[in-house]
Amino acid sequence: MRLDKYIANSTALSRKQVHRAVKSGEVCINGKAVSKFSLTVAEGDKVTLDGAEIKRPGPRYFMLHKPKGYVCANKDEEHGTVIDLIHEVNSDKLQIAGRLDIDTSGLVLITDDGQWNHRVTSPKKHCEKVYHVVCAEKIDPSCIEQFKQGVQLESESQLTLPASLSIEEPGTQASLCIVEGKYHQVKRMFAAVGNHVNELHRHSIGSITLDPTLAEGEYRPLNTAEINSIL
Ligand code: URA
Repeated sequence: MRLDKYIANSTALSRKQVHRAVKSGEVCINGKAVSKFSLTVAEGDKVTLDGAEIKRPGPRYFMLHKPKGYVCANKDEEHGTVIDLIHEVNSDKLQIAGRLDIDTSGLVLITDDGQWNHRVTSPKKHCEKVYHVVCAEKIDPSCIEQFKQGVQLESESQLTLPASLSIEEPGTQASLCIVEGKYHQVKRMFAAVGNHVNELHRHSIGSITLDPTLAEGEYRPLNTAEINSIL
């Protein structure tokens, strides 16, 4: 990787600021001051800026407890975004692995690893997402079978893939596990059976469960087991 990209991707410095730092001799590779920002940083090279080591920019993975009222986007004119809640350098490079609606809360995975993101979100990967749902009306027990068989969503050509519904007492709440991520999927599934979702919260994605110690708006890096659990 080019030296200027290496530093810009690992720090809050812009490319211009990196170029200045290199030109003024503040940057060393393996202890030797360098003057060319176009140099290549090889595997195992130690890069320092003002004596402090700059670690190779690696892929980053976070879980966020999304509050209602935030949009799953990198930028928005009107609302706060989930990326605004991630206080990390180069947060503009982060991607959202599976969006939630503005009025949905719960687990959002955020990364700059495009392939990992694809494995979370591709319908072909059948990654399970579990939601807690509060409906306006009592959920008819026949929905368990209907969701298992697949329901017809408006303006979709195919039935939804088999989903597992578990109704909770007193009957307006449920846990729903789906393996797709169609636009407004959970709300549209309940609409298809004549109900309405009042509250929606995502609890887990694959075997990654929302950390109960995270308050709304808080996030933490994923641990290695969580990262590797997405196959
Ligand atoms: N399904 C929905 O309808 N909304 C979400 O935010 C997530 C899944």
